[in-house]
This record gives sequence, C-alpha cells and structure tokens, in this order.
Amino acid sequence: MIEMDSKKLLYEGKAKSVFQGENADEVIIDFRDDMTAGDGARKESMGKKGYFNSIICAKIFETLEEAGVETQLIELTEPCVMKARKLDMIPIEVIVRNIATGSIIRKFPFEDKSPFNPPLIQMDFKADEFHDPMLNDAIAIALGIASQEDLDKLRELALKVNEVMSKMFKEIGIILVDFKIEFGKDSQGNIILGDEISPDSCRLWDAETLDMLDKELFRQGKDDEVIDAYEEVFNRLLTEEDKAKWNIK
Ligand SMILES: Nc1ncnc2c1ncn2[C@@H]1O[C@H](COP(=O)(O)OP(=O)(O)OP(=O)(O)O)[C@@H](O)[C@H]1O
Ligand SMILES: [Mg+2]
Repeated sequence: MIEMDSKKLLYEGKAKSVFQGENADEVIIDFRDDMTAGDGARKESMGKKGYFNSIICAKIFETLEEAGVETQLIELTEPCVMKARKLDMIPIEVIVRNIATGSIIRKFPFEDKSPFNPPLIQMDFKADEFHDPMLNDAIAIALGIASQEDLDKLRELALKVNEVMSKMFKEIGIILVDFKIEFGKDSQGNIILGDEISPDSCRLWDAETLDMLDKELFRQGKDDEVIDAYEEVFNRLLTEEDKAKWNIK
C-alpha cells in the first residue's frame, strides 16, 4: 500500500490507484484488494488480491514483451506496486473471446461454451455513466476516441496478446476463455498495452475440470472461493526463478 501524501494521486479506480511517478512519463500503479461487481454496486475487500494480481500481471506483461508486444511495465518494484509508463489511455475496452460465455450470450444467440474461430474481438466504450456500450469503428471515430488506423492496430495487438496468453495458460492447464485489455498512447503516439491483465480481467477455466479461476466467482457470489482461485493461477504461473526475482517465498 502506498502512502497517499508521499505521492500525487492521479486517479483512484475501482481496483487500482494510479500515482505520479518520479519521472514525468512514469506512473506508480497500486493494486488494491478491492473487488467490485455490477458497475460498482457491490464492493468487498479480498485479502491478498492486489498481491496476486500485480505479480500475475507483471509475469504476463514480461512474457508479452518477450513476444514483441510493447507494454507499460517498467518494473514491479514490490508486490502490489508496479512502476509503469504513463499513457494517455484510449477509453476502449478491447475484449477478446475464444469461447462464448457471459454478456455475449445474453446479448446474442450464441450457444453457451461454443468456441469462436477465429477469436471474436469486441470493443466497448469505457464510460461507466453509459454502462460501457459496445462500439463499432464508425462510432469510435465519430466520438473522436480513435482513428481507423488506431482501431486496426488495437485489433492486431489484441490478437497477438491472445495468441501469446492462450499458449502461456495452456502450458499450465488453463483455458483462456476471454479477457479485456486497455491501451494508451505514449508521448510519441505509439500504442502501448496498459492497465492490467489478471484474473480480474480474464475468464480462466481449469482445462480438466472447467472450474472457474477468475473474478466470475465473485460475480456469482462465491466470495469464499475467489482468493484460492487467484492463488492457484499464481502458483501455476510463477516459476521458482520468478519467485526469487520478486522475493516471493
Ligand atoms: N499506464 C497507465 N497510464 C495512465 N493511466 C493508466 C495506465 N494504466 C491504466 N491506467 C488507468 O488507471 C485506471 C486504473 O484504475 P482501475 O482499473 O481500478 O479503475 P477503472 O478502470 O476506472 O475502473 P474499473 O476497471 O473497475 O472499471 C484506469 O482508469 C486506467 O485506464
Ligand atoms: Mg480498470
């Protein structure tokens, strides 16, 4: 947890707090234990969630970097605290779906658990007051939140992220069902992967049992199962080498 008065708070979201970093082009992201559902209608503190999410996120971002996807990650200074590149965030939630479940089957007649081949990319306008409505390119361009070139780049990057992450999770016996990512621009206008990737923003199913290992447990009110699920993902994802690097016992 970061002391409020020692750093300038730029933004306090529902799960993370973003502080100005020492350099003008850096931010410090504090991963909190808060968990919300239903546009913030329900809010609970989930023990050690920030710890697990920040480390899982750093591990995923490092793997993406190795695969050539630029991310905000500078370093995980300590568990829960990520030093990151400060980005001008694009208010679009880019969602990639490999299997149909959740809101997509409530809005459209897709069969529950049916696969998408190729993966389905959906973009939602990130605006709580409008309940994050689904976008198309024309609406995004008319809103002035992205150009056609930006939108094409977002899709290209999202597919690459999906490819790398699907493989990464498959290797540890987890199916990457779907996920949400956010991008921003650096001072040169390059589109960079920002925010977080964690069990808060992905649907992850155990490949054998199809048990949920993500925030869906919380949405369904199974609060007592949430942290064990996150810890399971953490334990499968982190190698001994990773643990040594981040001083994790
Ligand atoms: N590298 C970055 N530079 C600047 N802002 C960032 C960066 N990465 C993420 N952000 C922004 O910081 C905020 C993170 O907070 P958080 O995710 O808790 O809240 P939220 O996105 O407003 O709400 P929620 O995710 O619960 O809908 C988001 O607004 C996100 O867009
Ligand atoms: Mg968020």
